[in-house]
Amino acid sequence: MFSLSDYEESASCLKNRLPGFVPKVLVVLGSGLGGLGDRVKEAVRIPYGEIPHFPVSSAPGHKGVLIVAELAGVPVLLMQGRTHVYEGFSAAEVSFPIRTAKLMGVNTVILTNASGAVNPGFSVGEFMLLSDFIRLPWANALIGPNEDAFGPRFPDMSRVFSERLRIEARQAAEGLGFLPREGVYWYCTGPNFETPAEIRAFRILGADAVGMSTVHEAMTAAHAGMDVLGISLLTNMAAGISQQPLSGEEVNAAAEKAAAVFEAWIIRILERISDRDK
Ligand code: HPA
Repeated sequence: MFSLSDYEESASCLKNRLPGFVPKVLVVLGSGLGGLGDRVKEAVRIPYGEIPHFPVSSAPGHKGVLIVAELAGVPVLLMQGRTHVYEGFSAAEVSFPIRTAKLMGVNTVILTNASGAVNPGFSVGEFMLLSDFIRLPWANALIGPNEDAFGPRFPDMSRVFSERLRIEARQAAEGLGFLPREGVYWYCTGPNFETPAEIRAFRILGADAVGMSTVHEAMTAAHAGMDVLGISLLTNMAAGISQQPLSGEEVNAAAEKAAAVFEAWIIRILERISDRDK
């Protein structure tokens, strides 16, 4: 459990290392999607281990480096890798960087991930904008004493993902010649992939994709009144939809293939955010 002073400590450590830098957008780069961070030339790179209380990821494809840069004219924090509940972190630990970013001035969060397609009409390699999520009774980052400095005890979750950001993301994609899907993300803790029976049930209950991340960060950002954009790369058809056994290697291979388009798309989205705020 964290207290407000823990978030303040991490934010002031970063502020001291980055004098005068006020980030506007936090981008969390999901499994296999961290390449954008490598391509940024002018940047300050801070390993998570140097930031007080920041959880340090061990998952494959998650480097654990905070990249501080100006991208498309927007001061951004890029998280190259995130932590997950399946690594043994609590939901509050997984979401810790969101509140740190909020205290630094960030009001827009772009959460990206690799996920499995539950909607049989979707295909591997497509992107999906998250319109909503289903978390059911899993871990919850907001359990514990409420931090009133961030938001209310009983936060509304009826519009976690910003409609406006989704429109902008769709327009940015059109400019690159593709149309992302839109749908509901079902959260599982992992680390195992789901069973075919689970996937059939999730589909009946309204899921379009399934993954092991994003939801705690999205809830924490929504609690703090931040604008959230969620983007899934569909790296595989979920269990039982295709007859192939699932593997982490398949997820990373699909992410690698989509990396160039993904990176161009994020830059275009940031350009739109920059233009809008001028
Ligand atoms: N299930 C859960 N998480 C995932 C999947 C999946 O099929 N693919 C990528 N992340």
